[in-house]
Amino acid sequence: MKKIKIGIAGCRGLSTLMGLRDIEDVEIAAMCDLDEDHLNKAAEEIGGDVKKFRIFEDMLESDIDAVIVATPMQCHVPQVLAALEAGKHVMSEVTAGVTMDELFWLCEAVEKYNKIYMFAENCVYIPKVQLVKQMVAKGMFGKPYYAEGMYLHDIHDILVYPSGKTSWRSYWQCGTRGNFYPTHSIGPVMQWFPDDYITEISTFTPGIHNPYGMKQDSGTTTMCRTNNGNLICLRTDCLSPRPHNMDRYTLQGTEGIFESAIYGKGRLAGDIDRVSLNSNKTEDGHMDWEALMNYKDLLPERYKNASEEQIHASHGGGDFFIVKDFIDAIRSGKQPELDVYKACEWTAVGLLSALSVANNGRTIEVPHFRPNMPLNEKVIKL
Ligand SMILES: NC(=O)c1ccc[n+]([C@@H]2O[C@H](COP(=O)([O-])OP(=O)(O)OC[C@H]3O[C@@H](n4cnc5c(N)ncnc54)[C@H](O)[C@@H]3O)[C@@H](O)[C@H]2O)c1
Repeated sequence: MKKIKIGIAGCRGLSTLMGLRDIEDVEIAAMCDLDEDHLNKAAEEIGGDVKKFRIFEDMLESDIDAVIVATPMQCHVPQVLAALEAGKHVMSEVTAGVTMDELFWLCEAVEKYNKIYMFAENCVYIPKVQLVKQMVAKGMFGKPYYAEGMYLHDIHDILVYPSGKTSWRSYWQCGTRGNFYPTHSIGPVMQWFPDDYITEISTFTPGIHNPYGMKQDSGTTTMCRTNNGNLICLRTDCLSPRPHNMDRYTLQGTEGIFESAIYGKGRLAGDIDRVSLNSNKTEDGHMDWEALMNYKDLLPERYKNASEEQIHASHGGGDFFIVKDFIDAIRSGKQPELDVYKACEWTAVGLLSALSVANNGRTIEVPHFRPNMPLNEKVIKL
């Protein structure tokens, strides 16, 4: 089998190392980072005779087949477009882009250059998300009609780098209004609505209460309507003082409910992911909770057969399995499930939410990202 040579841009890309090393005939051939110290440290971690580049475009000149773009959000689209033009396959970190125009360019470039584009939305791969997906497919929740996805992560301590310089996060994340980081919430939830796409959104916030001088609201709540009339509620809060809970989800269907655990330490530790199914009513006819993992036999085979190391990779194994799907897509020549259209739809929900917030929660239409979208649909409609 022909060896696939990968280049990684940005140190976050190292989260994929374990997955890449576990796959035959894959070599991490190049590493790119503007910061020389980060670059040297990353190259050491990768080992072997990995080639080092400070400039992304220089790395594209080398004989790599694919790139993992894990630089800051505002670099993603310019770098992905350059990589596709240079004939490389791409896996891009979240979010896909920082403007709606970028999203339209991204779709056009993937269609033009016919290379694999995979969106690195790793929370989709979290075991509980995959298990609920299997249970939905078996009809165990009846017809799903409502879901929630929450990303609650106080990031005030990373708005400034340890060197004292301002981080990109102060501008492209907490310097914006609306839900700047929607994909960890919406990506997993959309796994449970396989025939749906988001048609309109409306976002409300409680205003700006952070003491850091950031424009970002103290939490955003975005209601998303889908083409099939289902409702999804997204909450992102990255500046309020609270413990992290970055993968909190709910699914309600006509026959039951899934609620994920609330993380806690000390006295409140030990909360579990849970379900309540009509088919499992107590003897007196009431519904009660039981552990989601009572159904773990329904997990996809690769999760059941995963090594301890794989399942403990970051995001409950997500950072491991996602790489395998990227490499499989390259080998098969078929775009992966997390393709450019999903990347753009989920990212657009966040970008459009800023417009909704600025207009008192006004409902905004989300373009239907799909192959060969007509030009007149590549617009923001008010
Ligand atoms: N999927 C996830 O779970 C997850 C988690 C964290 C971050 N992210 C995403 O990963 C990306 C990086 O986040 P981070 O926390 O690692 O940021 P970071 O600021 O800690 O690191 C970014 C790295 O990219 C380098 N860099 C910046 N501009 C560059 C350029 N033009 N060319 C080459 N290198 C460049 C920087 O020197 C730095 O080493 C972001 O898009 C973020 O949204 C995803």
